[in-house]
Amino acid sequence: MPECAASHLKFLDLFLSSGFKSLKKIDDLKDDLEKVGRDALLPGLGADKAKKLLAACVAETSLLSAIYWICCSYALLGHEVDSERRQRILTFIASCRGASGAFAPHPAQREELLSTVSAVQLAVLLGEPELLEVSKVAAYIRSLQLPDGSFTPFRGAGESQGDCRFTFAALCAMTLLKQLGGSDAEHPDDSELCDAHAATADWLLQCQNLDGGFGCRPRECESHAGHTFCCLAALSLLGRLDGLSHRGRGRLLRWLAARQTPQGGMNGRPGKKPDVCYTWWTLAAAQLAESLVDSRLSDIFDLNALQKFVHLCMADQGGIGPHPEDDPDPFHTFFGLAGLSLCAGDHGVLALERMEPTLVLPVGLLKGSAKVS
Ligand code: FPP
Ligand code: ZN
Repeated sequence: MPECAASHLKFLDLFLSSGFKSLKKIDDLKDDLEKVGRDALLPGLGADKAKKLLAACVAETSLLSAIYWICCSYALLGHEVDSERRQRILTFIASCRGASGAFAPHPAQREELLSTVSAVQLAVLLGEPELLEVSKVAAYIRSLQLPDGSFTPFRGAGESQGDCRFTFAALCAMTLLKQLGGSDAEHPDDSELCDAHAATADWLLQCQNLDGGFGCRPRECESHAGHTFCCLAALSLLGRLDGLSHRGRGRLLRWLAARQTPQGGMNGRPGKKPDVCYTWWTLAAAQLAESLVDSRLSDIFDLNALQKFVHLCMADQGGIGPHPEDDPDPFHTFFGLAGLSLCAGDHGVLALERMEPTLVLPVGLLKGSAKVS
């Protein structure tokens, strides 16, 4: 295996092991809290604050999504997890499943959408569909939809919380569960479902701003490359990319092209410095728009300069950070590798599996799934 891939694998392995270790520490801390009482362990804080502090530590871990980033990076690098680690991961995922059938970031947290989509992606990635109670997960996701067609992050989040990130995440999970509707679905002729999809598509189209980029909800948010990706990927899953106006397509292309900075890397918004994760959000968005604007990624961007920037952000010990000299983390390692996988041709010493942009999973894994046949 090329040296560079081996160092990324080492970094990812280390992160995964320390994630599992910190889980154990949190569990021990919880036991101590029960035994000696919260106030004795965290003097002066009082029971309520101590409880909140503990919950914040747990929330910090976002371990379920981190495991998805790590396992996807393994797959991109062509690495198979050994059986012991695989078992540890499967046990952890199952421990995050709540009574609703949806998943929490950690067993001590409540169920929410982003962890649920990570669990669904992991079940596909690891070839373990029995981790999911499909009808319960689908019902949970449907319960997050607002009348305007958008989705919220968790039950009870409120009407103001509809956001294109959650809308995309919901549609991505429903597609993988084969519950979105259309020819693959179990209920292809459901007219209520068609109305709901039409509302969602209209809502997503309204997120496009006059500058061509998309914001997180209609009319009130600045354009952002992450939100632009989410809106285009969600529209693609609904088969409604054609809803973009002719003018909107041209503006979108110019806005995406302007994300490449003089350093070669992509930024998320005008005036911001380049950050590795926007390699994915921008290239994946541009790839989804390719058919609409009749341009290829290499016509829009300087892909060599982009790849050089990502390589500059790779740490000597493996892993990728957001900017050159930053510490690596699994989020930027995954989205950096995923972005590189979309640059056709040469990736230097890395041979990467290609990513499917709407499902955010390696293409090879999706053969025979809902989206890729
Ligand atoms: C940057 O955020 C990234 C985004 C806004 C996109 C986030 C997308 C999701 C949560 C949906 C992901 C779903 C799947 C299935 C992968 P940031 O807060 O780092 O932005 P900043 O760079 O402006 O700080
Ligand atoms: Zn970033």
